[in-house]
Amino acid sequence: MTDTKTTPTWDEALLANPHAVADKRSRVQRMFAAIAPSYDLNNRLHSLWMDQRWRRKAVKLADLKSTDRVVDVACGTGDLTLAFNRGLHRLGADLNANRPIGIDFTYEMLPIATRKSLAARNVFINGDAQMLPLADATSDVISIAFGIRNVADPAAAIREFHRVLRPGGRVIILEFSLPTNPILRGLYNFYFRHILPRTATWISGDRTGAYKYLPQSVNTFINRDSMVKMLSDCGFSRVTQHPMTFGICVCYRGIKS
Ligand SMILES: C[S@@+](CC[C@H](N)C(=O)[O-])C[C@H]1O[C@@H](n2cnc3c(N)ncnc32)[C@H](O)[C@@H]1O
Repeated sequence: MTDTKTTPTWDEALLANPHAVADKRSRVQRMFAAIAPSYDLNNRLHSLWMDQRWRRKAVKLADLKSTDRVVDVACGTGDLTLAFNRGLHRLGADLNANRPIGIDFTYEMLPIATRKSLAARNVFINGDAQMLPLADATSDVISIAFGIRNVADPAAAIREFHRVLRPGGRVIILEFSLPTNPILRGLYNFYFRHILPRTATWISGDRTGAYKYLPQSVNTFINRDSMVKMLSDCGFSRVTQHPMTFGICVCYRGIKS
């Protein structure tokens, strides 16, 4: 039985620290299932089409080789998976033999990803970032875009990425952050906390609180230096951070030595 006196409702948790909620995993899954059909439209509109540029930068930072095996974790509707496809194609990779794989634990995202990649024929798998269905040291690039913040135990997922990477493999994490300039930060937070949740909720018809969770989960997530430290603590070396668009988005990269 649930103790209603001590267990906060999701709304209260959203307004406090959503990362500290015991049932974060199932709540997150339910939110992404609900917003999957309008996910891409909301992403494009609310980032003013910058989200695809951020993903292209992430692919660039992965320093791809034509034979690389790429796994895109928390792939959602597959935008980063497809960006990796294009990156490998440009290098003349044999995509018939070696296509990027997308993995996400929200089943509802995967048919959308599959439909978008009909020509590219990527494989999308229903799986959890904290327990990847992959053998040790079998991948060259593991990416996760706007996903690590949503994982119940980010350090456990990063250790899992380390496990499945080959020596020399790269982990690429794209995640929201906040501008460091206080004026820009204030303006952005006004948009992020007061405008985006309303317009995105209206577009998606969402009732799960997904777009209230978004700004709150960014504001309460570990900061950039802590993310760099987490990557180092999980065994990655030469960890770097690359802020984009005034620091709204950051790409982190680490190497498995
Ligand atoms: C904000 S979306 C990002 C989707 C995509 N990477 C992109 O660039 O648009 C976050 C995704 O992370 C997935 N996710 C969250 N926790 C996960 C976990 N533990 N394992 C796998 N996927 C997870 C959600 O299902 C959701 O599709």
